[in-house]
Amino acid sequence: MGWIGRTVVNDLRSEMFAHALKLPITFYDDTSSGNLLSRFMYNVEQVAQASTTSITTLIRDSLTLVGLFAYMFYISFQLAFIFLMVGPLVGLIIRLISTRMRKLSHTVQDSMGEVSHNVEEVIEGQKVVKLFAGQSREKGRFSRVLTNNRHQQLKFIVASATITPAVQMIAASALAGIIYLATSGALAEEISVGSFVSFIIAMTMLLPPLKRLTQVNTDLQKGIAAGESIFELLDLPAEIDTGKQAMGRAEGRVEFEQVSHRYATSNADILSDISFSVEPGTSCAFVGRSGGGKSTIIHLLTRFYDASEGVIRIDDIDIRELPLLDLRRQIALVSQDITLFNDTIAANIAYGCPDASREQVIEAARTAHALEFIERLANGFDSLIGENGVLLSGGQRQRLAIARAVLKDAPILVLDEATAALDTESERHIQQALESLMETRTTLMVAHRLSTIENADQIVVLDQGKIIERGQHQQLLDQGGAYAELCRVQFAKQRDVD
Ligand SMILES: Nc1ncnc2c1ncn2[C@@H]1O[C@H](COP(=O)(O)OP(=O)(O)O)[C@@H](O)[C@H]1O
Ligand SMILES: [Mg+2]
Repeated sequence: MGWIGRTVVNDLRSEMFAHALKLPITFYDDTSSGNLLSRFMYNVEQVAQASTTSITTLIRDSLTLVGLFAYMFYISFQLAFIFLMVGPLVGLIIRLISTRMRKLSHTVQDSMGEVSHNVEEVIEGQKVVKLFAGQSREKGRFSRVLTNNRHQQLKFIVASATITPAVQMIAASALAGIIYLATSGALAEEISVGSFVSFIIAMTMLLPPLKRLTQVNTDLQKGIAAGESIFELLDLPAEIDTGKQAMGRAEGRVEFEQVSHRYATSNADILSDISFSVEPGTSCAFVGRSGGGKSTIIHLLTRFYDASEGVIRIDDIDIRELPLLDLRRQIALVSQDITLFNDTIAANIAYGCPDASREQVIEAARTAHALEFIERLANGFDSLIGENGVLLSGGQRQRLAIARAVLKDAPILVLDEATAALDTESERHIQQALESLMETRTTLMVAHRLSTIENADQIVVLDQGKIIERGQHQQLLDQGGAYAELCRVQFAKQRDVD
């Protein structure tokens, strides 16, 4: 049974994990990671519990019950029938309480999710908590979550604690009724003393397995509720990946045709009627106020979200016709929020290409201007960088992310404010290093500092999801529109700094 239990845990977890890897970004947008974690840890254990020890009891004690009943019928049909009449009542009670237990069990699991969500948030947000003196607020919040958890647990315990006495009470009443009937003489002619004693003994023997069965029901209900939430997760639809058109290395033409998009939660178009095309080997920069939809364009290209309307093409093929793996292989992305793994620097750079040689990793680091700081670390490329790279500075993390994208060597390079955390100096260096890469790749970039996009082949100015201007740097300056205004403000600021 122990072996079965551990195997159940193992299989469920690995299946959930495999499925979680396939779920769309929208799922992760609406699910707290604490809740997901607690399903992996807490719920799975409950299913294991229900599927092992509970099953043993269930089988053994049910068989005992059946055996005893058969014996009782054999001795006296009438008496056994009286006893059996309370069966439906017992069934009804078990059913009512079970339904309640299952409902409560769901609530308990949700509140476990809240507990882990809370802990996780505080761990991740330690700096903010410390700096904004949020300790007492966090303590208060956590104690509310804990109280709620205990409250729900207790409700469950109350429900499960009523069931055993209730069932025992009913069984005992039946027993008393039968003894009364037998002793009052009503059945005296029908049954011998010996049979009657045997019957009574069988009946009392019935009580312990009945008690265990009602108790095991508690574990079963927990397990069923946990199983429901696990299978709910497993049944969620995976990312839509129905594309059949295989693609090797793309040339890198990117085209948006009348693309509009709104997220499930937004009530207005975030992008409307966006059309542009970028030829292989050229670059296109997106500028505009924050919240204008620049990152959304990138998210649509990588199919983190599917555009609500319009068509996006790579090399003249609708990206929905490409298998996701083929599509994403074409794109090397350095995004605004960088994710690094708690591993060595080399492993992080080589994340997309685990077979890369040390020389290739070093070369990528050189291009990203990361070599200089890596070499200063005690263990160089083998230094561990902590969870999500906490042991590095923002600029260093960004350079690692750039190195990772460089090493991926994809035909389309996407830089979403990839150098925002760098000083102007390093940014210029990286810019120069990337220039050679950009010659053979299509580059889409979003940049805050306009000085970095002066050389872009085309500049698209976005405002509130619409393209309001496009052209080259000098052209747009001459037009004297929104872009010229943005430049004026930024360069004036820059002069002040200098
Ligand atoms: N996952 C999301 N779900 C719902 N709305 C989103 C999501 N991501 C971004 N938005 C909204 O879309 C708008 C554009 O965001 P974004 O493309 O990130 O802007 P930018 O990168 O230009 O600063 C914002 O108003 C933002 O609130
Ligand atoms: Mg953005």
